[in-house]
Formats: sequence, structure tokens, C-alpha cells
Amino acid sequence: MKLSLTFSLALSLPLSVLIYSNVMAHGDVTPQAMDTSSLPQLGEEWLEENPWRDPEADTWMKAIELGASGYNSNCARCHGLEGVSGGLAPDLRLLSADLDGDEWYMERFRNGATQNGITKMPGFEKILSQEAAWAIRTYVETRPANDAFKDHQDRLFAIRDTLKVLAGAIASGSKADDYAQVATDMQKELSDISAAAKTASKAPKAESAISRAAIALDGSADSFAKAGEMLTIGLSASK
Ligand code: HEC
Repeated sequence: MKLSLTFSLALSLPLSVLIYSNVMAHGDVTPQAMDTSSLPQLGEEWLEENPWRDPEADTWMKAIELGASGYNSNCARCHGLEGVSGGLAPDLRLLSADLDGDEWYMERFRNGATQNGITKMPGFEKILSQEAAWAIRTYVETRPANDAFKDHQDRLFAIRDTLKVLAGAIASGSKADDYAQVATDMQKELSDISAAAKTASKAPKAESAISRAAIALDGSADSFAKAGEMLTIGLSASK
């Protein structure tokens, strides 16, 4: 019954809608709740501007972490993994990180988008909290632009390879302390590369696998392998 209904509907719909309803039919449409209790609560009234944009504030990283998982379970299937659009829906990294961008973001977030009576994007107002909305916003606007690491690609691969070698040496008995200076130098270099990375939204600071690797590389025994893995992930995503 359900199958034949889908089939007869399918015959009368344009291709774009078919692709879309296929996405819907696969059942991954169920919105995922987000626990945002670790962020400050913002109250009933919906704010006009992202309260967590300031990279110097404690809430910045927290919002990004929660926003990453909220984005991946609620938005990525249409807007693309890591905010990189595959063409199905607009690339959210391009929305300007200012009041104008925030207004448009919230309009879509709360109400979704319909065209000729067809839902192109569901509204999230009744499903996710305001805190969740701004956490996702913070995550999206801090993604690096496409070419953010272009000039450092070779160097990042080289650092990654060094980290792998050192992680291997530590795994087979070398003392992490012997590599403390290398760790400090590479940590500094990763931080500098990350600090120079641009966002397409013009948000003041990009957060990425490169910045996470810089934070992870603290010279402790397992930090070499950890930072190396983070770089590998970042480098494969940025290709
Ligand atoms: C079912 C697919 C789908 C899902 C899921 C979805 N969107 Fe969308 N979104 C779209 C489409 C399609 C558009 C373009 C709508 C239009 O303007 O015609 C859009 C537009 C937007 C816009 C406006 C972008 C612009 O440049 O105009 C924002 C902001 C947005 N979505 C945010 C989100 C967020 C945040 C989530 C997750 C909480 C989300 N969307 C989930 C399909 C989706």
C-alpha cells in the first residue's frame, strides 16, 4: 500500500522532489534532540544576534562542540558534512557572521522553507531550542573557507608525517619527554596556521581539525598520535 502510493506519486513529481522524498523515505528525517544544558540558557525570547560569536569567551568552544553534533544529525544530510554543501541545499558557511546573516539564519531555522506547498526544509522552532540554534550557527560560521589551508597543505602533511613517526617511536619505548621541544615547535606552527585560516562567513576565527590538533598536541605520550590523526582527518576533508 505504502509502496504503491509512493510509486504513483513519484510518477507525477519532478526529479528534484523525487530525490528529496527519497531522502525523507529513508527515515533519517527524525530530528535529533540536543542537550544544551551546559550552555547558558537564553530565555523565552529569541535573540537577534548570535550570543556565542566571541572566540575569546568560554562559550565559544562549547557551542561549537554541541553545534557540530547538532548540525551533523539535523542539517548535514541536506547542507553537507562539515558545512560543505554538495549542492542539495545552500552552503551555510557563506552566511555572513553578523546581524544580517543571523536574521536570515533564524528565519530559516525557525520556519524552514516551502515552495509551491512543498517542504524544502522543515522548520526547527518546535523541535530544537534557541540554545541549539545558536550552537549550530556558531559551528557553521566557524568552519574554514574552502581554500583556508591551501598555502600550508605541504607543511601540514609533513607535520602529520613527523607526528606519526614520533608516535611510533613512543609506542616502541622512546620517552615522550625527548620530543618535548619538537612538540612545542609543531604546536606553535599549527596554532599559527590555524590562526591565519579564513572563514567564508567572516567570523573572526576558524575552528577546524587543524586547531583541534594544535590543542591536542601537548607533548604527552599519546598526544602525538592523537594530533596526527586529527591532521589526517582535516587534510582528507580539505582536499
Ligand atoms: C530536508 C533538507 C534540509 C534540512 C534537513 C535542513 N535544511 Fe536548511 N535548507 C534546505 C534547503 C533546500 C534550503 C534552501 C531553501 C530556499 O531558500 O529555497 C535551505 C536553506 C537554509 C538556510 C538559508 C540559507 C541561505 O543561504 O539562504 C539556512 C540558514 C538553513 N537552511 C539552515 C538549516 C539548519 C541550521 C538546519 C539544521 C538544523 C537545516 N537547515 C536543515 C534544506 C534543508
